[in-house]
Amino acid sequence: MRFDGVHYLRWAKEHQGRARYALTCSNMRPVTLAELDLSLDDVAIASGDPDGYGPLKAVAAEQFGVSPDEVFIGAGATGCNFVAFAAVLDEADGGPGHVLCETPGYTCLDDAVRPFGAAVETFARPYDTGFTLDFDDLKRRLRPDTRLVVVTNLHNPSGAALRPEEVSELAAIAEAHGCRVLVDEVYKDFLTESASPMARRSGGRMISVTGLSKVYGLTGLRVGLLFADAAFVRRCYRIVDYLAGANSVPGDAIAAAALRRRDWLMERARAVAAPALARVRAHVEADELLEWVAPPAGIIAFPRIRRPLDTLALADFLEREYDLGVTPGDLFGLPGHVRMGFGLAEPEELEEALRRFRDGIRAMPE
Ligand SMILES: Cc1ncc(COP(=O)(O)O)c(C=O)c1O
Repeated sequence: MRFDGVHYLRWAKEHQGRARYALTCSNMRPVTLAELDLSLDDVAIASGDPDGYGPLKAVAAEQFGVSPDEVFIGAGATGCNFVAFAAVLDEADGGPGHVLCETPGYTCLDDAVRPFGAAVETFARPYDTGFTLDFDDLKRRLRPDTRLVVVTNLHNPSGAALRPEEVSELAAIAEAHGCRVLVDEVYKDFLTESASPMARRSGGRMISVTGLSKVYGLTGLRVGLLFADAAFVRRCYRIVDYLAGANSVPGDAIAAAALRRRDWLMERARAVAAPALARVRAHVEADELLEWVAPPAGIIAFPRIRRPLDTLALADFLEREYDLGVTPGDLFGLPGHVRMGFGLAEPEELEEALRRFRDGIRAMPE
């Protein structure tokens, strides 16, 4: 195995906390134990169940409409993705083969596939078509040894949603080709299930990954959930035997309490996200230097700047001169855009950040 680095995360960690006005984060405002009606005394520090903390598996199964043996609990969505890649690309099944990831995309996923030795190729999710999946491109790039296709829903970086028919088409490809499709759905619950359905529901080869970091405001817990067929989930737990052995029981207990209040947490998230997105929309659509694909919901957007700027240098310039953090599109495979995250900022702060952005993209020397 070779670990050549998760480039986006390195950049994000190095830049974390540098700017007073940070649009770099893609999380929601943190939720407190009091908001979950929980005190630390309610949280047992016991040893857990052999394969995943039972009460969390039970509530996750109920909430997401699967059976408990189809639930894998991992260390964040990040941990779930990594374990899923290990489970799909296991050499024992004929070598790691070929993996298709979307571009632009959350490149941490591509980077996390590489240590397993798979050939990683990208297929297009183009700006010009509203960041819909380019199925012609995807199908053209399928190879006999393609083991896995990886996409995000909502799309990171743009916030675009997969439509139900796109999810069905992915499931049909998985079936016809005999590969797996993993859909990272950490932002999906900003939308209703009917607007954009959970991938796992549309076919046996589909894997859904979600977590409590984004919509649910519990980033620090490091709890992620993966939904797949029971045999695949068992395989994931076999892989965890090589890692930490199990998740943190107190963390999983808090996550279970949070999922018991899932409806309330989703409402809270949508109530924060909708006005923040409206504010971003007002700025982006009023600025002749910007264009975008308006996301339907959520806390991230990916406007394009209509000036030939080096967006990596722009991010540094905005940080230095405007005390403003944005993430360059280069880190998602699409220079010329920046990703803005607006789930953390209070309304006045967000206004100020957007004003600074407007000024900064004009002031940046070419
Ligand atoms: C698409 C996507 N998946 C996973 C993660 C990480 O989630 P977690 O904090 O649950 O590991 C992120 C964080 O930015 C993300 O954007």
